[in-house]
Formats: sequence, C-alpha cells, structure tokens
Amino acid sequence: MAETCPHCGGSGWKIVEVDGVSGAERCDCQLAERARKLEESSGIPPLYSHATFDTFRLPADNPTAHRGLAEAMLTVKTFARLFPGDNKPGLLLIGEPGTGKTHLAVAALHILLSKGFECIFFDYQNLLARIRSGYDAASNSTDREAYRFALDAEVLMLDDLGAHRVTDWVEDTVTAIITHRCNQRKPLIATTNLADPDAGDGIIERDSRLPEKVYAKLTLAERVGPRARSRLFEMCKVVRMPLVEDYRLRKAGRRA
Ligand SMILES: Nc1ncnc2c1ncn2[C@@H]1O[C@H](COP(=O)(O)OP(=O)(O)O)[C@@H](O)[C@H]1O
Ligand SMILES: [Mg+2]
Ligand SMILES: [Zn+2]
Repeated sequence: MAETCPHCGGSGWKIVEVDGVSGAERCDCQLAERARKLEESSGIPPLYSHATFDTFRLPADNPTAHRGLAEAMLTVKTFARLFPGDNKPGLLLIGEPGTGKTHLAVAALHILLSKGFECIFFDYQNLLARIRSGYDAASNSTDREAYRFALDAEVLMLDDLGAHRVTDWVEDTVTAIITHRCNQRKPLIATTNLADPDAGDGIIERDSRLPEKVYAKLTLAERVGPRARSRLFEMCKVVRMPLVEDYRLRKAGRRA
C-alpha cells in the first residue's frame, strides 16, 4: 500500500488559505494519478502521443517559416499555460496539411491533461461516423456515448474539422456540438485545412454575376455551415499556420 500523503493525509484534498480564508484544494499527489488516467482515456492517437512543444522543430533553413512557426507555437503554448484563461475558451488552428496543426494542438492537450482537465481527442470524420452509428439500435454503447462526450467533455479536440462532405445531417450535428459548447463556454480545440477569409485567405475571383464570393479553396463555412463557423470564431483564438513545407516531406527529404 502507498504511503499516506503528508499534505492531505490521503484524502486528496488539502486545506489552503487564500487571503485569510481557508478552503479545500486538490492535492498534487492525486493530480499526478488523475493526469495519468486522463491521458489514458484521452483518445490521443499513438502517432501523436509524443507530440509536445519540446518535440516541435522550427525550420533552420528558412527564416520566414521559422518566425511564423515560432509565433504559432508561442500562441498555442501561451493558451495552454494560461488555461483556463479569461479570454476565449477555444483554439482554432488553420493551415495547409503537414504544417504541424495536429502536433501543436495535441501538445496543448498534453499540458491541459497534466493540469487535470479531462480532454477528449476526436478525429472529426470518426466522430461523425460514431455519432451516426450511435443512432442505430444495434450499435455498441461507446458509439452512443460519443455524442455525449463531444458535447460535455471538459475539453474537446476536433481534428481536421470539415474533412467530410456536407449534408444537412453533418451541418446540424456539428452546429449542435459547437453551439452547445459555446453556450456553456466549454473549451474546444480544433484544426482544419479549409480556408477562411477571416484567417487571411484571399478571394481569387469576384464576379458580380455570382451571388457569393469565390475563394481559392473550399471554405470552412461551406463545409460546416455558416452558423457553426461563426460560433467557432466567436469562441476560439485563431492561429493561422505559416506556409511551411509539409513536415512529412521535409523529414523524408532529409533521410534521402
Ligand atoms: N515542426 C514540427 N516539428 C516536429 N514534428 C512535426 C512538426 N510539424 C509536423 N510534425 C510531425 O509531422 C507529422 C505531420 O504533422 P501534423 O501535425 O499531423 O500536420 P497537420 O495536422 O498540419 O496536417 C506529425 O507526425 C507531426 O508530429
Ligand atoms: Mg492534422
Ligand atoms: Zn496528497
């Protein structure tokens, strides 16, 4: 049996005095154990279990990319350090594939887990598939739980938001999750490689005969619907990833 903690006597709570008023606070001895359990149930894929700020490399050969990436990393790191700060409760990382969005988002998640926050990682497509099969009477209970988790987890990470063709069902489901979390001020960390004019993506063509502006790529609004998109911007600090070479290719090239 483990030794009884000298700070809390094994109760998990210690008495602390703040401004002359004493109150109970979770003891650190329990925090380490809680963090370990939370990490286990976070759903972070093994490929990203080592994605931390320490393992995030800045390109040495390209000063512009170096600066841009350092800035993006600092923003994400600051968000994680100050969490739960009093600013926006979420983070939205936008950028091209392979620029390190998922890596940075998971790095933040690891910090929040170590602080004792319950974080759940969901791949966007996988989450939608599970929610959908959860409606099926024959589905297993974990699929049925997926939707609850997405709504109520303390911190939700949605990876590759919008990587799915839109149907009314998808739009409604995503809007419901994001609206619920926004209303409850529940943190959301999302990544996407879709474009958005408010994240600096330009319009390539403006044709007065067309009712809509035309963008170079599919936009976030087109994929998740305008309501979910506007809520996302309301609740999230937006981090625009700089244009850097796809890290997977960079690594492959070095080996060659
Ligand atoms: N700057 C970086 N330093 C170290 N590893 C990186 C960096 N950028 C990306 N990676 C790694 O490259 C792979 C692809 O990055 P990922 O974060 O998945 O990109 P994205 O989500 O933007 O498509 C991952 O294994 C990730 O850990
Ligand atoms: Mg990714
Ligand atoms: Zn203790």
